[in-house]
Amino acid sequence: MYTLTYTLTVNGAEYSVQTEPRKLLLDVLREDLGLTGPHAGCEHGVCGACTVLMDGRTIRSCLMFGIQAVGARIITIEGVAQGGALHPLQEEFSLHHALQCGFCTPGMILAALEFLGEHPDPQEDDVREALSGNLCRCTGYDSIVDAVLAAARRMRRG
Ligand code: FES
Ligand code: FES
Repeated sequence: MYTLTYTLTVNGAEYSVQTEPRKLLLDVLREDLGLTGPHAGCEHGVCGACTVLMDGRTIRSCLMFGIQAVGARIITIEGVAQGGALHPLQEEFSLHHALQCGFCTPGMILAALEFLGEHPDPQEDDVREALSGNLCRCTGYDSIVDAVLAAARRMRRG
């Protein structure tokens, strides 16, 4: 098997990866770095379960190779809590019971994180549209939207 060695910056840490150049970023994160928050759902860019942040923007880690992330800052759900404290989005998801199986939750939270960074005072419809690319097969959308709106209120208060 032909492999390459490259460095990825994930959640503020640098990782040296030796793997096939065609290996997907999703699989590198999960299998080589042990970061299993990004989930493999559809694996063709539809469900959003594999969402991570790349230089602050959401991307689908099933749609790019790991080596394409060299030089970028990747954030996975494992990097959202800071100093042992959950992010308000994480706390509000818990308080609002916004997850059932939790499969979609990492992608939902990262999509909401990007969205609230640009829309700190959203309406419910805005949240629904922003999360429309993240599918929840447990169909608990109302609680998810409530959690994002509650987190937005908390984040505005600082
Ligand atoms: S697993 Fe990447 S979008 Fe579904
Ligand atoms: S909570 Fe199960 S897929 Fe969303």
